Amino acid sequence: MTDIIKLMQQRQSCRSFSDKPLEAEKIVSCINAACLAPSACNTQPYHFYVAHAPEAVAVAAEYCKGDKYNKWVSEAKAFVIITQEHADIPAANSEARKRDFRQYDIGLAVENFCLEATAQGVGTCILGLYNEEKLKSNFRIPSPKSIALIIAMGYPAESEIRKKQRKPLEDMITYLR
Ligand SMILES: Cc1cc2nc3c(=O)[nH]c(=O)nc-3n(C[C@H](O)[C@H](O)[C@H](O)COP(=O)(O)O)c2cc1C
Repeated sequence: MTDIIKLMQQRQSCRSFSDKPLEAEKIVSCINAACLAPSACNTQPYHFYVAHAPEAVAVAAEYCKGDKYNKWVSEAKAFVIITQEHADIPAANSEARKRDFRQYDIGLAVENFCLEATAQGVGTCILGLYNEEKLKSNFRIPSPKSIALIIAMGYPAESEIRKKQRKPLEDMITYLR
């Protein structure tokens, strides 16, 4: 097994965090990894809003959970809110301008982020459910921007690596002829 596959096996959604504080450098290292991801026309159409100060973490946790989702987030030591930004595709690239690749770009960046966190021993959970309006108003994120995803971070409370539950590989492939 290659090192990268081992890292991918180790990356798992972490929903229980220890009390150990998370170092600011580790968050920056994950954001650097995210920015190394490819993006359409190299536009990097995203921005990272970091909630690491205790007051900001408390506010982010409050609006990343609802009655029926993400009740565990209060244990997270940081939240990285990823906004979708304008993709500045050059006018000369008229075909690419007709498409919106931004969600793909953000997905690629987020996986890089989470793999780097795993390599650093840091747990992550990608959040697709949150109160976008409350987060934007509390953190003064300009209203035309949308929040694409949020990553909850911290040191895992448990060391067990769960077996991955995935569809069988043979169901995922069709060979063309
Ligand atoms: C776009 C996206 C949104 C997600 N939203 C949530 C969420 O709001 N809450 C949560 O607990 N997990 C969330 N997850 C985590 C998935 O449930 C998880 O990645 C999946 O079950 C596979 O498990 P693993 O990450 O441990 O391999 C999200 C994952 C993705 C990619």
